[in-house]
Amino acid sequence: MRSSSNSRIHPKARRPRRHLPRAVGVGPTGGRAPKNIVVVGAQWGDEGKGKVIDVLTEQADILVRYQGGHNAGHTVNADGREFIFHLIPSGLLHHNKVGLIGNGVVIDPEAFLEELGRLAARGIDVRRAVKVSDQAHVIFPYHKRLDLLEESARPGRIGTTGRGIGPCYVDKVARSGIRVADLCDGETFAEKLRRNVTEKNRLLSTLYDEPPFSYEELLARYTGFAKRLAPHVVNGTRFLRQAMAKGKRLLFEGAQGTLLDIDHGTYPYVTSSNATAGGACTGAGVPPTAIDRVIGVVKAYTTRVGEGPFPTEFSVELMDTIRTKGKEFGATTGRPRRCGWFDAVLARHAVWVNGCDAIAVTKLDVLDEMETIQICVGYRDGTRTIREFPSDIGLLARARPIYESLPGWHAETGEVDRFEELAPQAQRYLKRLEALVEVPICLISTGSKREQAFKVGGW
Ligand code: IMP
Repeated sequence: MRSSSNSRIHPKARRPRRHLPRAVGVGPTGGRAPKNIVVVGAQWGDEGKGKVIDVLTEQADILVRYQGGHNAGHTVNADGREFIFHLIPSGLLHHNKVGLIGNGVVIDPEAFLEELGRLAARGIDVRRAVKVSDQAHVIFPYHKRLDLLEESARPGRIGTTGRGIGPCYVDKVARSGIRVADLCDGETFAEKLRRNVTEKNRLLSTLYDEPPFSYEELLARYTGFAKRLAPHVVNGTRFLRQAMAKGKRLLFEGAQGTLLDIDHGTYPYVTSSNATAGGACTGAGVPPTAIDRVIGVVKAYTTRVGEGPFPTEFSVELMDTIRTKGKEFGATTGRPRRCGWFDAVLARHAVWVNGCDAIAVTKLDVLDEMETIQICVGYRDGTRTIREFPSDIGLLARARPIYESLPGWHAETGEVDRFEELAPQAQRYLKRLEALVEVPICLISTGSKREQAFKVGGW
């Protein structure tokens, strides 16, 4: 990780935070470092949050996942080794950090224990360091089966990861879900599981003509998981409250991205949780006043996995080029990601919804050889010009992007470690992004290696 001395990219963009003025807040240069930071995806997920979190972890003591489940995939390259995190906070690659899987997460105990084992086998001390909230909901095999069946029965596919995420959140909201605390309490668990298995079996046979799940088998298997999970289980809210009282610094790791948020994303082509910064409070049990900083992560272009409108999606040829150069294949499912130009309308919406203080721009190097680079600055619907991200999914599907064209920089950015060392056209591109999303850039990543990133402007 390298640090840039550049103090200003875009003076207008570097204005103080307006929407959440705080007495303890500090400017980007000087002053006390912010204590509790939320890192959130400001596009459709896969923005490179793992890398940004890895860089910011040096300023944190406790890493918190607050939503989603093992549908997420955060890739971190450290010391020449690649690690992919799904459920476990990715900042745990650093020594002496503690990770919490918050109440807003849905946890598949089998996937969790496997991930724990995989990381431990690679020398990462995760056993002692990983805590799980007793209020997190548990994913069962019937959730996964229903996810796949519902997906194939839907007239318009969502393209879910098939991990049972949506059906588990359905049970949570329907108030029939099983939480980690229930799982670890033998009697309660047996009773709740029986009720759930009976209901799901009825659903499976009547709606889908599918074979039933065995209650006894699930009870035995999950009782086994509960024993292995128990040493990690804590009251998440209390754990964080006590940590904050001792002055510990929290880093909240958003999974997925703003446009996959159940409320603020491109519904129904979204995941089933609040991936936005507000989700950090409800999904971890901390008050909004505890959050000092929100950093939005964007790629220098845009990608999405799964179905749904994508106004700036590339044509086939460019898609292949960028997908190959950017290694745009899902870290969880291996699916090829859809790629497109940077959409400033979408990113500005994300910056506002999350209250981002700054953005981190990743994968700048992927655009190094482009002749011309386009930025979407608005949409056209017939004769109408749209400057605000629409909530009407039909409109978004019809919308044609309005592009601004900038010349490419034809220079490698992978070895650059200061903003001023970037080619003038690369600087111009980044300044334009800043002006369009209306917050400063705090970090630029130019490759997958840990050291291929530099901070900007004293952040
Ligand atoms: P689900 O979260 O498995 O229900 O999938 C819902 C939508 O979110 C699908 O379009 C998935 O491709 C997308 N999705 C879920 N997790 C991720 C992620 O970590 N990165 C990118 N897309 C994701």
